[in-house]
Amino acid sequence: MLTYAGAQARHILPTVAGRIPQHFIDELIARADIVELIGSRVPLKKAGKEFKACCPFHGEKTPSFHVVPDKQFYHCFGCGVHGTAITFLMDHDHLSFVEAVEDLAARVGLEVPREEQPGARQAPPTDALFALLDKTAELYRRALMDSERAKDYFKARGLTGETAAKFSLGYAPDAWDYVLQQFGASEAERLKLLQVGLVIERERKTGVHPGYYDRFRDRVMFPIRDARGRTIGFGGRVLDKGEPKYLNSPETELFHKGRELYGLYEARQASRTLTRLLIVEGYMDVVRLHQAGITYAVATLGTATTPEHLSRVFRICNELIFCFDGDRAGRAAAWRALENSLGQVREGRQLRFLLLPDGHDPDSLVGEEGREAFEKRLATQAIPLSEYFIAHLRSQVDIDTVDGRARFGELAKPLLERIPAGIYRELLGDEIAKVVRLDPRRLAAALKTGTPHSGPASPAGERKPAPPPVKKPAAGGRRNLVRQAVQLLVHYPGIADKVSDLTALRALDRPGIPLIVQLVEELHDQPCDKTAVLLERWRGRPDVEHLEKLALMPLYIEDQAGAAQELLGALERLLKEDETQRQYQDLLTRHKRAGAADGENAEIEPPGRN
Ligand code: CTP
Ligand code: MN
Repeated sequence: MLTYAGAQARHILPTVAGRIPQHFIDELIARADIVELIGSRVPLKKAGKEFKACCPFHGEKTPSFHVVPDKQFYHCFGCGVHGTAITFLMDHDHLSFVEAVEDLAARVGLEVPREEQPGARQAPPTDALFALLDKTAELYRRALMDSERAKDYFKARGLTGETAAKFSLGYAPDAWDYVLQQFGASEAERLKLLQVGLVIERERKTGVHPGYYDRFRDRVMFPIRDARGRTIGFGGRVLDKGEPKYLNSPETELFHKGRELYGLYEARQASRTLTRLLIVEGYMDVVRLHQAGITYAVATLGTATTPEHLSRVFRICNELIFCFDGDRAGRAAAWRALENSLGQVREGRQLRFLLLPDGHDPDSLVGEEGREAFEKRLATQAIPLSEYFIAHLRSQVDIDTVDGRARFGELAKPLLERIPAGIYRELLGDEIAKVVRLDPRRLAAALKTGTPHSGPASPAGERKPAPPPVKKPAAGGRRNLVRQAVQLLVHYPGIADKVSDLTALRALDRPGIPLIVQLVEELHDQPCDKTAVLLERWRGRPDVEHLEKLALMPLYIEDQAGAAQELLGALERLLKEDETQRQYQDLLTRHKRAGAADGENAEIEPPGRN
């Protein structure tokens, strides 16, 4: 029996209700009719074996959105969105993973089973936790009404009652047991409060029964809501001076800072069709911007922007502006945001950065200059990611020297590599080539081979002809074989059972081999014959994007038997090549030992690619 390192993270959910078993998700994907599902929301036209529509995720006039019933998969050649029935519900209907699974199950008339969690504290159902958080938000909201001091605080910060109501702002009174008194009558209730982060467990002294106390005391409260408007956590700010200025709910099973954005629910309430989002740093920034009419502002929750935030945002709209304070910390945060965004950059997505004047944050600035002036800044001062990328690196080097330009290339390379291959990356590569004054093709070659940057040897003036294309190293063939094997498995997961012995393959030390081994092993363990089922199993794992890409690439093999044959052939050649390569290395080593001086080495031909 196999155990996978990724098994915990692999699907789903630390929900208290227990994990949804993978076999159920397999079945769901296999049973769901993706054409019907998508067709109920987007008018589909049949085109051969597939269906087509204008993409619901980006504006377009000619249809480039394809639904492939054979694979239970969709893909847009315009904006690149793709996925399974579950992904569609998450992206299109903005459901969470679990919600999407539940919705899909209801459609095909299945009950979502949950795995037992042996040894876990008997946990209350998630609904009860959501309800508790909502009740608490309401409690704080009423406490705000009763506190002149808290109301004065918000007033002094320029907020209207209407805004406070829209965001359900509240106040946690100055007491150790305000929430406990209301909602902690029994130990079971207190455990729930603990579970959602509203109370803290007192330190245990031996033999003494632990008690609890309220986490939030004498703070103005900002409830954080999920996409459906349910309260999942809080941020609380001190009214006067005090540390910490903001206190947030801890990570709980309902609240994940790395994926939630403050204000997103409110932004979507304000407009059904968001075309852009503005990411700022603070609660007050969001609230104040919304009040000023900039209702597309959201904030991360005291964390850096994560790739997960971004993939959520880009499901909603394709224009994103980061807005940071102009001080040193703000600039550092902006660059970090850029670094974290690179994996999400692609054609059709617009990402810009706005640095505010030093000493200002969006809250103070929009208060001072109003919506129009602020939006004018967005229009005129927010710079595209590519420009910021280059400007920032330029500021790190002396671009007028050869060394400086070489350094620039070195700094740019790993960042550029994080951008998914495609037009965007190439265009940015061309821009970089201009800066380092290198022929774009030479730069591309230097970036690809991973050899240390040789420096921009030919300044633009000299106009040396571009060198002949670098000869592909022998590894290229092997890499293609690896990719071919993976692609075959992705298109026809059913063929894995034709691979009977993995021992030899396991011994190969080559990139991509572990993935083949893992695919085959897992498919041995739990066979499936649908691409979408396999991809769904890989959700959240590091290789999923790679697998998705291969799923989208055409494979000109029509049947499973042919695919199986191809796979076995590819694996065999991989093993044989490895053997040849090893013999060649042995030979080389022996010759070297025998004396490099006699020049014999030159006569050894490397093994050819097949
Ligand atoms: N933050 C936090 N914990 C802190 C300080 C800040 O989580 N101890 C987060 C909060 O989300 C806060 C954001 O970082 O809104 C920005 O913090 P900061 O710039 O210090 O405050 P402002 O948003 O300007 O808050 P205010 O205007 O209320 O002073
Ligand atoms: Mn502020």
